[in-house]
Amino acid sequence: MNRLIVLGTGSTLPTKVLSNAGLEQMVDTSDEWITTRTGIKFRRIASVGEHTSKLASSAARNALEMAHLGSADINMIIVGTITPDMGMPSCACLVQKELSAVNAFALDLNAACSGFVYCLDVAEKYIKVDPSMKILVIGAETLSSRVNWEDRNTCVLFGDGAGACVVSGSADDHRGLLASKLFSDGSLYKLLYMDSAPSMNKDLLSKDHDGSYIKMAGRDVFKYAVRSMEMAILNVLEREQVPIDDIALIIPHQANIRILKSLAERLGVASEKVYINLDKYGNTSAASIPIALDEANREGRIKPGDLVLLCAFGGGFTWGASLFRW
Ligand code: ACO
Repeated sequence: MNRLIVLGTGSTLPTKVLSNAGLEQMVDTSDEWITTRTGIKFRRIASVGEHTSKLASSAARNALEMAHLGSADINMIIVGTITPDMGMPSCACLVQKELSAVNAFALDLNAACSGFVYCLDVAEKYIKVDPSMKILVIGAETLSSRVNWEDRNTCVLFGDGAGACVVSGSADDHRGLLASKLFSDGSLYKLLYMDSAPSMNKDLLSKDHDGSYIKMAGRDVFKYAVRSMEMAILNVLEREQVPIDDIALIIPHQANIRILKSLAERLGVASEKVYINLDKYGNTSAASIPIALDEANREGRIKPGDLVLLCAFGGGFTWGASLFRW
């Protein structure tokens, strides 16, 4: 059986750092509130020229370098994002242009914070058909462009960044992506959503359009996030008959430290086995897992043969999990 394997990882963060102390100057909040409720201390904020496609391209270059591949080797680019530079073309097409990846086709995928595990799942389907394909799987966001900076309920949570993987196929049945499972429930979308720009067609103009920024029912999102990620993880473990104790590292979407602690408790997993970097970057939506995966990989936290679990939850609602033998 042909399995998806990761040939290289990369990430890029904007240079500008916004600390909790900086946020105290902008809204009625405190370092103590943000730290205890979310675990976040800093986030990166994009500046001039650091559009989503630029961050994505830079992360992709780092992944290509690790994979010892050039842009022309890439056959497909898939970007998970809810903050593309433009409505059209896709962010992936702009990445293709930036990299001169002339042999690729390119598309975006919107699954909010679950974007990266969704993109991996799609890439796997192409790899199964043609294992020689080299695919850039990217999660990239500039959420700072879609946050209401006067709403303390949301603006303290998010940050910008990009992460990427180069993936291909392997006939070695014992390594690579062992299982992937996706879920969604659109009926709950109002608990976490972001309107598009107001319609130019008055007949389609939403009566309750109140700005194109992120709105969230925090407590509800919290409950669904914990239960849903647990369910997705148990699903892939059961399918592969892998006990949770065999997992070397869980790399979850970096939403909130309390969500991740709660998840670890429910799964009976030691906190050292859950990779956390949200203190440095906040919630970077689709970018959070590939950034964390790249950091863990470069830090040597993932060894060949390790079982690694990715799990995500986000707007839609969308959620899912991927189980790898590295
Ligand atoms: N600073 C200070 N006070 C604040 C802030 C802030 N930044 N934000 C809210 N508060 C206040 C509220 O106004 C409220 O005040 P009140 O009691 O006078 O009305 C009080 O703090 C408590 O508000 P709650 O919303 O009940 O606080 P809670 O303990 O639920 O924490 C939080 C809020 C952190 C958003 C939590 O619900 C949460 O983590 N939810 C998950 C949401 C999440 O992670 N979303 C990310 C996107 S989805 C995803 O990536 C999975």
